[in-house]
Amino acid sequence: MSAALHRPEPVLRHRAQPVDQNVPPAQAAAWLCEGRSLILTDRFRTGLDILTALRVKLEDPGEDAEYVAKRAFREAFQSASKRLLAPVVGRKVALPDAPRAGFLAELYPDHADFALPVEDAKVLSSAWDWYEQGVHFPVLGYRVHPFYGAYIPARMEHLELFGTWLAKYKGARNRAIDVGTGTGVLALQMAKAGFQQVLATDINPNAIESVARQLRRLPTAPAIELQRADLLGAQRGPLDLIVSNPPWMKGEVGRTLDLAMYFQDGFFERFYDQALERLAPGGRVVFVFSNIIELSQPDVPHPIQTELDRGRFTLVEKLTRRVKPLRRRTREKVEIWELAVV
Ligand SMILES: C[S@@+](CC[C@H](N)C(=O)[O-])C[C@H]1O[C@@H](n2cnc3c(N)ncnc32)[C@H](O)[C@@H]1O
Repeated sequence: MSAALHRPEPVLRHRAQPVDQNVPPAQAAAWLCEGRSLILTDRFRTGLDILTALRVKLEDPGEDAEYVAKRAFREAFQSASKRLLAPVVGRKVALPDAPRAGFLAELYPDHADFALPVEDAKVLSSAWDWYEQGVHFPVLGYRVHPFYGAYIPARMEHLELFGTWLAKYKGARNRAIDVGTGTGVLALQMAKAGFQQVLATDINPNAIESVARQLRRLPTAPAIELQRADLLGAQRGPLDLIVSNPPWMKGEVGRTLDLAMYFQDGFFERFYDQALERLAPGGRVVFVFSNIIELSQPDVPHPIQTELDRGRFTLVEKLTRRVKPLRRRTREKVEIWELAVV
């Protein structure tokens, strides 16, 4: 396993104040907001109660709120909650009711005893559940087991729409690339569709680890070459198909997983420049995208339309499909944009 994997930072030294269920959660939440560090001494449940009180204190706007409000809350919550610690002894959370987090044993070969923010312990534990159970992808017909820190798609419609596009694709199937592969689903779809060689890159090393482990799980590993790299990575000859499900919105990147959601200035410009250098004659660039940027960030120039207006690429086809609401009604649509060089 690569030493460079992202993991929650272990807290090796602290002067945190011990807390247990005798401290009212609202009091503990207020201390966290004042900047005090706390460490649980009795149960994991005490920590969850304090986090709930913290959400109330910071006025969680809820999942249906606007992006800006949700983001402001998340930043305040992350900053305060990281001061609420759980003890880790022998790479296990040393509280009797703590959920299992097998990634502790995998991600901390260098430390056995330390402390971790309760919120991080929670995330590690639910990531372990996803990893063990896997996520069924109907477009692949099997379960994918995401490693900690790799992006897991929240919905399937965009992958189905890419499958629809791929089924109609008539071009060459020598070499394709999945830029920003995450858990590898688009690369696996292309391998399943008969591409002889599929490259898959991601800037997040945990994504590359995730796909490497998935390939080892499959009875016959498809010909997918992995590269931890920025965008298209190292030159490997001309590409018939450059596919990417890039971040769909513009924004600041704090945590590793933000890289999956938010692009920053220059991301798409560098992408197009690299694509122009690498595309085989008659090749295609295919984006799996969404209208969420038009709905929630109308002032941000559209990263695909802006490039089309520049005249270096032409739009061959655009497919769109409504998505089923996850919670409330939505005007969101997923999209496939197929571009060819002019
Ligand atoms: C929306 S996710 C898509 C993941 C996967 N392809 C899928 O469809 O489920 C975007 C992915 O792009 C990766 N990414 C972001 N910036 C990148 C960059 N500069 N170079 C390579 N990958 C990047 C993220 O780490 C993330 O895995």
